[in-house]
Amino acid sequence: MDVMGGFQGFGYGEWMLVEELFDAARLHSLETVFTIGNGYVGTRGGFEEGFPRGWSATLIHGVYDDVPVVYTELANCPDWLPLLVVVDGERFGLDKGEVLSYRRQLDLRCGVLSRYVRWRSPGGKTIDILFERFASLADRQVLCVRCQVTPVGCDAGIEVQGSINGYSENLGFNHWELLNQGKTDKGIWLQVRTRSSRIELGMACEMRVSGAEFSLETSMVPGYPTLSAQFPAVSGQTVTVEKLVTVFTSRHVENPVNEARGKLGELLGWSVILETHEKAWNDVWEKSDIAIEGDIKAQVAVRYNLFQLLIAGSRYDDRVSIPAKTLSGFGYRGHVFWDTEIFILPFFIYTQPAIARNLLTYRYHTLPGARRKALHYGYKGAMYAWESADTGDEVTPRWAMPNDPYAEDIRIWCRDREIHISADIAYGSWYYWQATKDDEWMRDCGAEIILDTAIFWMSRVEWNTQQERYELREVIGADEYHEQVSNNAFTNRMVQWHLQRAIFVYEWLGQEFPEKAAELAQKLQLTPERRTRWQDIVQNIWIPYDASTKLIEQYEGFFQLEDINLTDYEPRTKSMQAILGIAGANQRQVLKQPDVLMLLYLMRQSQEFPYDADTLQKNWDYYAPRTDITYGSSLGPAIHAILASDLGKTAEAYERFMQAAMVDLEDVRGNAADGIHGASAGGIWQAVVFGFGGIQFLGDEPIANPHLPPGWTRLKFKLHWRGKWHEFDLHPFVEDGEDGEEITSTSLSPLSPSS
Ligand code: BGC
Repeated sequence: MDVMGGFQGFGYGEWMLVEELFDAARLHSLETVFTIGNGYVGTRGGFEEGFPRGWSATLIHGVYDDVPVVYTELANCPDWLPLLVVVDGERFGLDKGEVLSYRRQLDLRCGVLSRYVRWRSPGGKTIDILFERFASLADRQVLCVRCQVTPVGCDAGIEVQGSINGYSENLGFNHWELLNQGKTDKGIWLQVRTRSSRIELGMACEMRVSGAEFSLETSMVPGYPTLSAQFPAVSGQTVTVEKLVTVFTSRHVENPVNEARGKLGELLGWSVILETHEKAWNDVWEKSDIAIEGDIKAQVAVRYNLFQLLIAGSRYDDRVSIPAKTLSGFGYRGHVFWDTEIFILPFFIYTQPAIARNLLTYRYHTLPGARRKALHYGYKGAMYAWESADTGDEVTPRWAMPNDPYAEDIRIWCRDREIHISADIAYGSWYYWQATKDDEWMRDCGAEIILDTAIFWMSRVEWNTQQERYELREVIGADEYHEQVSNNAFTNRMVQWHLQRAIFVYEWLGQEFPEKAAELAQKLQLTPERRTRWQDIVQNIWIPYDASTKLIEQYEGFFQLEDINLTDYEPRTKSMQAILGIAGANQRQVLKQPDVLMLLYLMRQSQEFPYDADTLQKNWDYYAPRTDITYGSSLGPAIHAILASDLGKTAEAYERFMQAAMVDLEDVRGNAADGIHGASAGGIWQAVVFGFGGIQFLGDEPIANPHLPPGWTRLKFKLHWRGKWHEFDLHPFVEDGEDGEEITSTSLSPLSPSS
């Protein structure tokens, strides 16, 4: 591959991310960056031979287990990667001997991670090793890793040990108990179970050697079954060792280890598995790719972010969603936030609707947890968890406990107060339905989500007798720097929006599916009085908006807080909350992330109150300079990019866009080690399609009104809308020799009816 550009130790091509020099200081963040997966399993980019203090991890959707303080987390599953190469008795590792050449690359087109190393052992033997791995997209239970070894200018006795490591930990916590292990004709297997949730996992593996005469041995260290291939290797001759792995859990099959062993017996071999895997990826990219010409860095960064979303979205299971850090790290413990419905979902709705449906159906299956939460807090209906896992019960930790033994514990209020999540889920459900016209899903799942959360709002709002209006007190809006606020404009307007949709959905259901409407009316006690109440709330909920200035007050009293000039704090490398302290940020007009602007963005889709160009301009001018966009939340920059683009602030739009696009690749916030910033990745898609592409769905067809960033000569993508694919091929256009960028190209006609 020709390397066409570079940044921070990476080179890249249009579909390739290349690490040209190994830097142990970036070990953990690069493990995140080089995560591979297939929508079922995610495996961080740890090395096959390991590395001291590495955070290797394989996370499987839905495999949660109990853990103190944070309740539950995705358990780090047995490691399928170990492939140790021993050269004349000396074990290969990047921390020993001499690394003469190094290159690691991720092929985004097909999700194959490879690493080439020329290594001189302490004893002086030089050897080329090429490692490759992928998680089959065509067959989710199949994981493949191989190495090719070639002695350089010497002969050597080589041993390659392939193991299943049952001792994987979540940063020091081992979730597994060993049930059994064993060997078969050519392979080994391991059977383990999570300690509390009692999910059983079976993994089996075999090794195939070609290019030399070899002998194969098995060793049964408890929890670490190993296959060892030994062979003599001759200078210049390549020997290939393939390790094929299968994995099943009791979430889907009764006897995972038997299934894993059975499946292993059916596997044909590396090249056949790779071929079907590549084909599956081709099909996926056919629909989901965004092609950018004229800006190769943006091109690879966008594809990288989409790749990370594509390997996180569940193709097979509608009882799981996408955790905030996808399946790529321990951050947020595999918990699911509004990040999914508001930031990530649109990419799937418009390019992989079947995955979008799975993500939303997870919210349907977790309604019982949301109902338990409502009941616990003394409300009716369904109150979704701010952080959700397998059951939908609230799993946001109550306390954050600092490492410093003398520091105070910090109460986390989001679990109690960040209630906008219920409206966000309704919002995602609504737009999925609008885009797909999947009436069946709305009838069977979406309606119950939207209606039972509407009942929650009815019990949550308060009537202010003096002001004669409905209010929502003690909430946290999108901006988490302010933790105990009343009448947050974002929350109140989203609730109003939600109740309007609930009324519509109930009427629609009554007309289209009267039996289902009657069933839900009974189950949820949707009495006419309750529906009248919804209407009353819609009409009388207070949105702190001043019609004369068009300024929306973030919440009641926000404008009375001490003002701040963020430029006074530059240059800085920390968030404003880290600088001012929790109370200090709380008392000032500084935002962690867009709040009023987030509301304007969400209302932009249907151009509803309070969205209009003038209101956007006024509120942008007020709130953008007060937002801690670089060090606050990673959810902010993509949204600012879209709004800045709407406002014609091309340079700022591009800057924010690249900030979001590079958040993991350049470790912009210093926390890439914890896992991929999934919401930012989803925001990137929205920034390109809705922002730069200017896509809107106001009529029967999506329409483009593009503002391409300077230098972009072409922007191409597809959208699935109401049963048809629409292809957009956008170019900048200079009108009649005049300078300045005026864009003309719009949508082409639909390609074909959807299947
Ligand atoms: C943000 C939230 C987000 C969460 C998970 C927090 O820092 O403020 O909006 O949902 O991270 O990504």
